[in-house]
Formats: sequence, C-alpha cells, structure tokens
Amino acid sequence: MPARPTSTAGKYPDRHTLPLLVCLLAVAPVQGQNAASYAEVAPILQERCVMCHSGSTPPLGLGLDSLAAILKGSSKGPVVKAGDPAGSELIRRLKGSSQPRMPMTGPPFLADQEIALIERWIGGGLQAGTAAKTPPSVVEAVRPRAGEPVTYLHVAPIFARRCAKCHTDNGLMGPPPEGLRLTSYEATLAAFDRARVVPGHAEASELVRRVRGQARPRMPFDGPPWLSAEEISLIEQWVDQGARNAEGTVAPLPVGARVRLHGTLNPDSRLDGLDLVFGRRARSDKNPAPGSYVQVRGSVDEMGRVIVERLRSR
Ligand code: HEC
Ligand code: HEC
Repeated sequence: MPARPTSTAGKYPDRHTLPLLVCLLAVAPVQGQNAASYAEVAPILQERCVMCHSGSTPPLGLGLDSLAAILKGSSKGPVVKAGDPAGSELIRRLKGSSQPRMPMTGPPFLADQEIALIERWIGGGLQAGTAAKTPPSVVEAVRPRAGEPVTYLHVAPIFARRCAKCHTDNGLMGPPPEGLRLTSYEATLAAFDRARVVPGHAEASELVRRVRGQARPRMPFDGPPWLSAEEISLIEQWVDQGARNAEGTVAPLPVGARVRLHGTLNPDSRLDGLDLVFGRRARSDKNPAPGSYVQVRGSVDEMGRVIVERLRSR
C-alpha cells in the first residue's frame, strides 16, 4: 500500500513524554465564562467523529465516544493536553495542521465556532461538566428491525468506519481510489463514470463483489479484518432492496450506466452466478475458460441486466 502523503507519525515526541495526569494537576483550570465542558463538546464528537472513533478497533486506537477514551489517547500518545489547545493533536487535526485533517469525511470540516469551543474545553482544563453521560454510540444503534427495509442509515456507519478513510477527497491514499467517494449517499451511488452500485442487483454491483472478495483486491484494502458476515449481508440486502436512501426511498436503476465487474467465470458464461448478456458488439479477449478470473465491461439495461461489451482474463 502506498504511503499516505503526509505522515504525522513521530513528529510529536512531546506527546509521549508528559503523563496526562501530571498535566491535569499542573495546569490550573481557567474557570470562568470562557471555559467549556466535555458536556458541551460531546454532541459535536458524537455527530462527526464517533462513527469511526468508537468500537473495538477505532483508528489508531483512539475512541472519542467518552471522556475516559479521549483522555486515554491514541496508540501514539495523548491527543489532548490540559491547558494547551495548540499543543493538542486533536486540535491540530481539526485545523489541518496535522494531516489527514479530521473529520476524515470532510469537507465539510468543523465550523470555526465548534473548533473554538473544543479549544476552550482543552484550555479550561478538560472539565467534565454536568450531564456528561455518554449518549449511546451511533454505530451500534442502527440495525434494521425485523421486517424493516435496509436503508442508507444502516450501511452508512460501515462505509464511514471502514471505507471513508481512503474513499474521500483527502484520504489515507490521497485522492479517492478509482475516483470513488463513499462519504455520502449521492457519492456512493454516483454513476457518471461507472456504477459501482446497481440498485436491486447486488451481483451486478462491484462494491458488493469487493467486500465479498469475489473481485480483487478485496475491500477494505487495509484488511483483514474484512467486513463481518453480518455487515456484508446488510450491504447485500441494502443493494438488493433498491439501495434506499436514508428516508427509505428506492434508488432509480441507472439505465445505460457503465459497469466494470471482476469475478470468476462459471461454465454457463455467468460471473459468479450473474447472468451475462452478450450483445452483438461483445468482444472476448483470449476466450477465457470457465474458472478463470475475468474483468467484464459493459452497461446496465432497463431490466438491470449487464450487457457485456468486453470480457477478458485478468
Ligand atoms: C471516516 C472516519 C473518521 C472520522 C469521521 C473521523 N476520523 Fe479521526 N481518524 C480517522 C483515521 C483513519 C485516522 C488515522 C489517520 C492517520 O493515520 O493519521 C484518524 C486519526 C485521528 C487523530 C489522530 C490521533 C493521533 O494520535 O495522531 C485524531 C486526533 C482524530 N482522528 C480526531 C478526530 C476527530 C476529532 C473527529 C471528528 C471531528 C474525527 N477524528 C473523525 C478516521 C476518522
Ligand atoms: C486503505 C484504503 C482503502 C480502504 C479502507 C477501502 N478501499 Fe476501496 N479501494 C482502495 C484502492 C487502492 C482501490 C483500487 C484498487 C484496485 O482496483 O487496484 C479501491 C477500489 C475500490 C472499489 C472499486 C472501484 C471501481 O471503480 O471499480 C470499490 C467498489 C471499493 N474500493 C469499495 C470499498 C469499500 C466498500 C470499502 C470499505 C468496506 C473500501 N473500498 C475500503 C482503497 C481502499
């Protein structure tokens, strides 16, 4: 995997040296109207950060879903230093002086007032404040109930947590790989160059093939761990049920959109069970034998079928 463009590793040795507790005791909290509390900061983190920074394997080990997790810091050290916002990695990431800038799904990044609030919390000595009870994690909260259709709300946390760190404008690999952004519903379904999701047809969706490992390289690119069987099944159901938006509306079929699929050719000229329709213009390079790993280029017809234009071994 290519190195990400700007690494921050090792640039801030000071973060390792100063035990946080000493920090907390040494800096007299700046009490007064200016200091903010964790209770005020938590809703911003819940909304913009927790979809990635929570659970058992958050990025760099950094959880942002409780005060204790924030104070614990990342695998590289503390991310907040009481009384020293400018010296806190969390603020550097919010402002972009450390890259990649957070939230990783940005732009949009946090508003200036939101960053200022977090600075005042750190500057004021990391006070907990009242009502600092952690709201439930958004990640665990959203699973469809029995009989309820799968919508973008259910799959978005998976994309945010496992995919968006690369498939975004300023991700770990620079520009989004293959131009594919997975940071919003519109971007995930965009088909202006080609469709990676064909609503109603999981087998014709390269995104599904990639998370299953039928198409290589398997996604997420930094796996294993791959997605769990439950997560993969949720994404399959979401696509098969029409790739509904957050409101539950089924997406239109991108008739005429181009697709590029990878998989294994079955004896009956199917691609891992997907019927391929060979148009008159279809070209097959080197006549791949059944069992070979192939790339199919084609387009989607009005019934959601894949009309093959080119088939070749990979
Ligand atoms: C889409 C997922 C995602 C979202 C949303 C996100 N992050 Fe991150 N965050 C990451 C990844 C991935 C890394 C590791 C990047 C790297 O290697 O430097 C990271 C790293 C960080 C670090 C660096 C820790 C260190 O010790 O160097 C901080 C601080 C951070 N994030 C804070 C935030 C904050 C605050 C928010 C919300 C405003 C946020 N992140 C939102 C994915 C995300
Ligand atoms: C560590 C970075 C990284 C992560 C995380 C990642 N990807 Fe990718 N993705 C890539 C790279 C690099 C490619 C291009 C690989 C290739 O085909 O050579 C790619 C390609 C793809 C493609 C093919 C696009 C096309 O036009 O055919 C899809 C679909 C995809 N990723 C979906 C996902 C999904 C879904 C996730 C999360 C479950 C994910 N990716 C996580 C780096 C990443």
